[in-house]
Amino acid sequence: MKKFHIHTFGCQMNMHDSEKIAGVFTEAGYCETNGIDDADVIVLNTCSIREKAEQKFFSELGRLARAKKKNPDLKIAVAGCIARQRGKDLFRRFPYVDFVFGPNNIDNLQTWAKGGNFKTAIEDNPVYYTQKLPVKRAGRVRAWVSIMYGCDNFCAYCVVPYTRGRERSRPAEDIYDEIKTIADEGFREITLLGQNVNSYGRKLPGECDFPELLRRIHDIDGIERIRFVTSHPRDFSEKLIKAMRDLPKVCEHLHLPLQSGSDRILHLMNRGYTYEDYKNKIDNLRNSINDIAITTDIIVGFPGETEDDFKQTVTALTEIGFDGIFAFKYSRRPGTKALDLPGHVDEKVKSQRLSMVLELQESITYSRNKSLEGKVYEVLVEGESATDGDRLTGRTRTNKIVNFYGEQGLTGSLVDVKILEAKQHSLYGELAQSRG
Ligand code: SAH
Ligand code: SF4
Ligand code: F3S
Repeated sequence: MKKFHIHTFGCQMNMHDSEKIAGVFTEAGYCETNGIDDADVIVLNTCSIREKAEQKFFSELGRLARAKKKNPDLKIAVAGCIARQRGKDLFRRFPYVDFVFGPNNIDNLQTWAKGGNFKTAIEDNPVYYTQKLPVKRAGRVRAWVSIMYGCDNFCAYCVVPYTRGRERSRPAEDIYDEIKTIADEGFREITLLGQNVNSYGRKLPGECDFPELLRRIHDIDGIERIRFVTSHPRDFSEKLIKAMRDLPKVCEHLHLPLQSGSDRILHLMNRGYTYEDYKNKIDNLRNSINDIAITTDIIVGFPGETEDDFKQTVTALTEIGFDGIFAFKYSRRPGTKALDLPGHVDEKVKSQRLSMVLELQESITYSRNKSLEGKVYEVLVEGESATDGDRLTGRTRTNKIVNFYGEQGLTGSLVDVKILEAKQHSLYGELAQSRG
């Protein structure tokens, strides 16, 4: 039996794409291996969101040159966002790469795995959103479901519209059927995936919008929790807040990337909202849904960001009090508008700003987590904790990780856990009572 190995870089969308790549290989009779030494084919599923992500991939690909020397029959494929952006260029720099396919061309791999051949498949695939690929899911409790592909927003710093192509929504019926199958397989939680889920259905004539999609899938038995990423603040609507409030399975967590607290920078970024718009939406959300957790993404050192602009980001973080943030130094990306903007910020200044933001957020996250001590929360048990010996691990509806002692058999069930101690990145608790 031939063996495949996949190394995934990047976001949840890429991780889910890897599940499709694994599904395609499995369907063609391959089995998965964790090592590179016994693999017949290795796929690097790549990310190009920041320079660092790209560098990680290049060093991994460099490592594979040795593997190929040892085993000349080994096939090496590059998939994902770098594949789409660089295409044939990759063969020039890395002649030992066998084939390259983009995020919307996983169907080409189907042909390859069944004995066909191709070198490069990165062209736009306008029917990708209707295609149903086999999926080999990584977990047993939580599953990802793509509801749309691509992005039309062209934020000035971002490569995604170039690597994932135009925004296209999947038909609601296909999404419904996939979730039904997932529920029948025993999964309890789904995360709906799209670069901008709030604009779901907008370009599909006669299709429902995102709040309506949530309502439709809500009746699927077996699924206990529904999450979604990512929301765009510009398109985050009152209607969606109402749906989140009214639908019990939709979890009390929202990831809403702010990027900057300065209106001037938000404008340069082409984000389409002001800080005040953003803050009003958060206030409405918090008034409608008790104890909702809110997380965000922040970029520091975007071209032209002054000390004063940066201070406004710091003020925003203090005012809003996020449950957690992902913060990044602005990174120059080929083909994006921000490259040509004046006032690129010194690398040292970017690093200082990043440290300040992270330090501030650390204390905010810690005090928010601290406030949970002594309270009881519903946790969906995911299994044994990878980091914490014989404890089980799971998440609250607000997406906080909780570790606690309990029987392995609880995996996949909802239990009540009393929080005993809050740490920076996780909570420790004890089982209060099982609900099956
Ligand atoms: N579609 C999602 C996720 C985009 S990528 C969204 O719109 O939020 C995830 C995060 O990476 C972005 O929110 C942004 O904060 C960050 N990011 C994207 N491009 C970047 C760049 N060139 N430099 C630094 N951070 C970047
Ligand atoms: Fe990138 Fe903006 Fe699209 Fe998000 S919404 S993927 S940040 S272009
Ligand atoms: Fe995701 Fe990276 Fe592509 S963040 S969309 S894999 S550039």
